[in-house]
Amino acid sequence: MELDGAKVLVCGASGALGGALATALHEAGARVVPAGRDAAALQELSGTLGTTALDFDVVDVGSCRTVVDGAVEQLGGLDALVVTVGVAGFGRAVELDDAVAEELFAVNALGPMALVRAAAPHLEGGVAVVVSAVLADLPTAQMADYSAAKSALATWLGVVRREERRRMRVLDVRPPHLDTGLETRALAGEPPRLPQGAPSSDVVTRVVEAMREEAKEIVTDARTGELLTR
Ligand SMILES: NC(=O)c1ccc[n+]([C@@H]2O[C@H](COP(=O)([O-])OP(=O)(O)OC[C@H]3O[C@@H](n4cnc5c(N)ncnc54)[C@H](OP(=O)(O)O)[C@@H]3O)[C@@H](O)[C@H]2O)c1
Repeated sequence: MELDGAKVLVCGASGALGGALATALHEAGARVVPAGRDAAALQELSGTLGTTALDFDVVDVGSCRTVVDGAVEQLGGLDALVVTVGVAGFGRAVELDDAVAEELFAVNALGPMALVRAAAPHLEGGVAVVVSAVLADLPTAQMADYSAAKSALATWLGVVRREERRRMRVLDVRPPHLDTGLETRALAGEPPRLPQGAPSSDVVTRVVEAMREEAKEIVTDARTGELLTR
């Protein structure tokens, strides 16, 4: 797709990956509306992007619809939805608090799915870019619910890609552990020993390229840890 002039909504722009992606897309010429919860982070970003930031809570399905409608109104349409919301939770699967388990599925699966549903009618010829995680392919101990939610999201995106192939493209991004500090903002528990986080700037570059190139997935090679676009 042509990014110059593209109308883009980034949900999760208050976060590390989402903020960097919003900025990179702006630099590529796109008109980018940032959305999230952290008002201070969004305000700073909207100064750079020259658009009005939108506040939303991804666990509230009504709020997912409202944020999409707000972006469509502000931009006069939508060419790309980018979803980078996510939260981790750690601990043994059978010991996880029920409320934490629910929130992990709401933020990492049900909310992103609601955003894609809300945006789909506007994305004729456009793209839905959703960040799941390598955990969708490699579920990991101490992260059962986070892994399962990402896996559910990736499975759902695969079906949407087929069902909506004549309407829009779906780009599922499944990066490895990154250097963004996500694990320090977990809903519960302490992270297990993790490898050094890969540079999130590499993911940003790949996503921008993949959006241009009509790619469908960015995955992590299980053997080498490299990002592969396909
Ligand atoms: N970092 C990693 O190691 C890694 C690896 C693979 C995949 N990922 C995925 O990459 C994406 C970006 O993560 P990141 O590393 O950039 O982490 P991050 O900086 O913590 O960003 C997470 C984003 O999710 C948003 N969010 C969380 N709960 C929300 C809610 N209820 N409503 C609205 N927004 C909510 C946060 O918004 P507020 O700050 O405004 O609350 C923030 O913008 C996530 O989907 C994550 O699962 C990360």
